[in-house]
Amino acid sequence: MSEQAAISIFFFFFMQVLVLSEVAILKPVLDEQNSCDFPAIINLGDSNSDTGGYAAGFYPPTSPNGNTYFHMPARRFSDGRLVIDFIADAFGLPFINAYLDSVGTNFSHGINFATAASTIRLPNRIIPRGGFSPFYLDLQYLQFEQFKSRSQMIRKQGGLFASSMPKGQYFSKALYTFDIGQNDLGEGFFANLTIQQVNASVPDMINKFSANVKNVYSLGARYFWVHNTGPIGCLPYVLSAFSSAEKDPAGCLKPHNEVAQYFNLKLKEAIVQLRNELPSAAFTYVDIYAVKYSLFAEPQKHGFELPLVACCGYGGRYNYSAEVLCGGTIRVNGTDIFVGSCDRPSVRIVWDGIHYTEAANRFIFDQISTGLFSDTHVPLKQACQRTSN
Ligand SMILES: *[C@@H]1O[C@H](CO)[C@@H](O)[C@H](O)[C@H]1NC(C)=O
Ligand SMILES: *[C@@H]1O[C@H](CO)[C@@H](O)[C@H](O)[C@H]1NC(C)=O
Ligand SMILES: *[C@@H]1O[C@H](CO)[C@@H](O)[C@H](O)[C@H]1NC(C)=O
Ligand SMILES: *[C@@H]1O[C@H](CO)[C@@H](O)[C@H](O)[C@H]1NC(C)=O
Ligand SMILES: *[C@@H]1O[C@H](CO)[C@@H](O)[C@H](O)[C@H]1NC(C)=O
Repeated sequence: MSEQAAISIFFFFFMQVLVLSEVAILKPVLDEQNSCDFPAIINLGDSNSDTGGYAAGFYPPTSPNGNTYFHMPARRFSDGRLVIDFIADAFGLPFINAYLDSVGTNFSHGINFATAASTIRLPNRIIPRGGFSPFYLDLQYLQFEQFKSRSQMIRKQGGLFASSMPKGQYFSKALYTFDIGQNDLGEGFFANLTIQQVNASVPDMINKFSANVKNVYSLGARYFWVHNTGPIGCLPYVLSAFSSAEKDPAGCLKPHNEVAQYFNLKLKEAIVQLRNELPSAAFTYVDIYAVKYSLFAEPQKHGFELPLVACCGYGGRYNYSAEVLCGGTIRVNGTDIFVGSCDRPSVRIVWDGIHYTEAANRFIFDQISTGLFSDTHVPLKQACQRTSN
């Protein structure tokens, strides 16, 4: 190749990069002044965003869950607030109640269909025979469909319950948040499927995810905020079960995280596709993985310590045992040992071996709300503004 040709090829690519980066800069036509006025938040997901569904349906988390913020168990798997709580707070909205919770709930500004241990695909081993919630994403969608019509019936009837239901117009104005997929990967790993087998089932998970997003859209949803899945290979429940798997420099399980990253790649592609198919909707894909991973990779930088060790757990290198979880009691050598909180949950990342501490959740929220981790760099407050691919 002549020097000239090489230079012009270089120039061609240089121009491509310029053009692409200009597109990237211009892409979000954002109105910086006006933040979105979401009157409600409607969430579908798993324990990462469950504010009481699992507790209502099955077994409520016990003390020391909730200690840091609520000063009592608060139907969440954490010592305090979850990312979804910080999101609600950012819009001046009350914490969203669980659809399944029949006691004292008020859905006027949002509703939560998430349950801990939920999957996108129908799980094989459902509680109490296995660990997974029956309320997989298809059922969460069906609950949403019922809720949408019944809540409006209740409002029309008036009386006692009307004020705890959202206005009809909120369904098209609400922010719809999704955080689900971690348990689909976990189900495969714990069913002893190979890494390759779990990896190969990712496209089916994503197809089923997209189908549900479209169903939610068909009922009027327009603003979508989608979390990708976190680094499952950094969590003690996976670390302790697959201790012989290859580790990365942060001490996380490399193959398990690679599957999570493949899930995220396919999810991101699906969001791009959804933007094309549903141009009147706004989609924000949020790279929660990157934020969570940065905590495990550089804990000190962010004010955290003992990144891979559960604050509230029992035994082993990761302070986690599947035999006795946070809040439980185990008899060791004739003595009962209560699995309580570590001394300083405020400097810890992992709460109970599976879930994050309030301190970590706050850090994650602070990062993602800026928009730096959104594919279109849309901040949370502007998530109603449509962007093109
Ligand atoms: C539900 O919350 C809304 C908004 O905070 C309030 O106006 C309404 O009175 C509440 N309904 C009940 C039944 O508590
Ligand atoms: C997976 O393998 C482990 C170790 O061989 C075994 O103890 C466990 O029961 C298996 N789990 C399932 C769901 O087959
Ligand atoms: C998962 O599958 C994709 C597509 O075939 C492949 O590129 C990737 O390397 C696989 N990852 C793992 C961990 O097997
Ligand atoms: C239980 O007692 C045995 C025998 O005294 C001892 O070796 C073991 O370390 C004890 N286990 C724990 C967890 O304290
Ligand atoms: C491990 O969990 C126990 C509760 O069982 C807690 O007291 C302890 O501080 C935790 N260890 C670490 C290193 O956080």
